[in-house]
Amino acid sequence: MTTIVMTGGSAGFGAIAARRLAADARVLIGARAAPGFPLDLARLDSVRDFAEKVRAQTGDQGIDALVLNAGVIRPDADGRTVDGFETTFAVDHLAHYLLLRLLLPALADGARIVLTTSGTYDPATGAGLATPRHADAQLLAHPDRDPGRDAVAKRAGQHAYTAAKLCTVLTALSLAADPGLRARRITTIAYDPGQVFGTGLARDLAAPLRLAWSALGTPLGAPLRWFRPEMNTRDAAGNALGDLASGAAGPPAGRVLVALRRGRLTAPELSDTARRDGLGSRLWDDSARLVGVAPAVTR
Ligand SMILES: NC(=O)c1ccc[n+]([C@@H]2O[C@H](COP(=O)([O-])OP(=O)(O)OC[C@H]3O[C@@H](n4cnc5c(N)ncnc54)[C@H](OP(=O)(O)O)[C@@H]3O)[C@@H](O)[C@H]2O)c1
Repeated sequence: MTTIVMTGGSAGFGAIAARRLAADARVLIGARAAPGFPLDLARLDSVRDFAEKVRAQTGDQGIDALVLNAGVIRPDADGRTVDGFETTFAVDHLAHYLLLRLLLPALADGARIVLTTSGTYDPATGAGLATPRHADAQLLAHPDRDPGRDAVAKRAGQHAYTAAKLCTVLTALSLAADPGLRARRITTIAYDPGQVFGTGLARDLAAPLRLAWSALGTPLGAPLRWFRPEMNTRDAAGNALGDLASGAAGPPAGRVLVALRRGRLTAPELSDTARRDGLGSRLWDDSARLVGVAPAVTR
């Protein structure tokens, strides 16, 4: 039976994807409240425990799809994890990077890796959030050392999110370019679900934003979708994620990033920053140092 390992499968549109996938596959979901596979991405020791449990469970059979969908956005960049890293960057990028590194050797040949990013990673989408200024893992992990840090807390929080999502795209590009993974026919996809109201993503934001986020997730938000191609329903975003994980959908040959627009998967150009030479490999090595693994990719 196909085995899929997933983060962010307990809530939001990820839960819709997980339900869809569970019809034909064994889906191991890591989440804070999951009894079998507890996972708190804000703790690197929890990531290591989770990876060990998954490897014990999957044994020699291998993992057919690894779906890294969990994410948070916070009202500021002041939170720190137990490991001392800024919370949004730690949960959205660093913990997933470590999980990837621990599980890459356990992937079956021909497996798929799907990482959920956000269109807000690209300034050209004009999403209105503070855009990424860099993908320097050291500064993102320790924003108080960043000389360009936003003075306004809300903007600093947005920057932590959009920069972490840039790191997600860069990580996907590094994986897709790795000769060892290519030899194992492993496909990597960065998935931008568009704007999906009514999920739990706004839970830590200010009350007016939280309320608007919930309201727009009801039929009240439907008329907006006529004018805003990037707005998608939870079902559309979850079903597309499920299709990407199962192999029912994917990017065109040679592309890594897909974006859901008007409920359909498209393959947008990468942002100027994501195309910059050397950025991804620097991020890879710095992330490895921060989580305490060797920079080399696979086994
Ligand atoms: N909604 C949008 O408009 C939108 C747009 C672009 C990108 N995205 C991305 O899509 C993904 C899913 O978002 P969503 O809107 O569905 O949000 P959501 O409803 O808040 O779901 C977030 C998921 O992440 C998990 N998670 C959060 N913190 C965690 C932690 N410390 N440890 C383990 N799991 C944790 C949650 O699990 P628990 O059950 O443990 O809380 C939940 O399953 C995120 O990566 C988000 O950045 C969303």
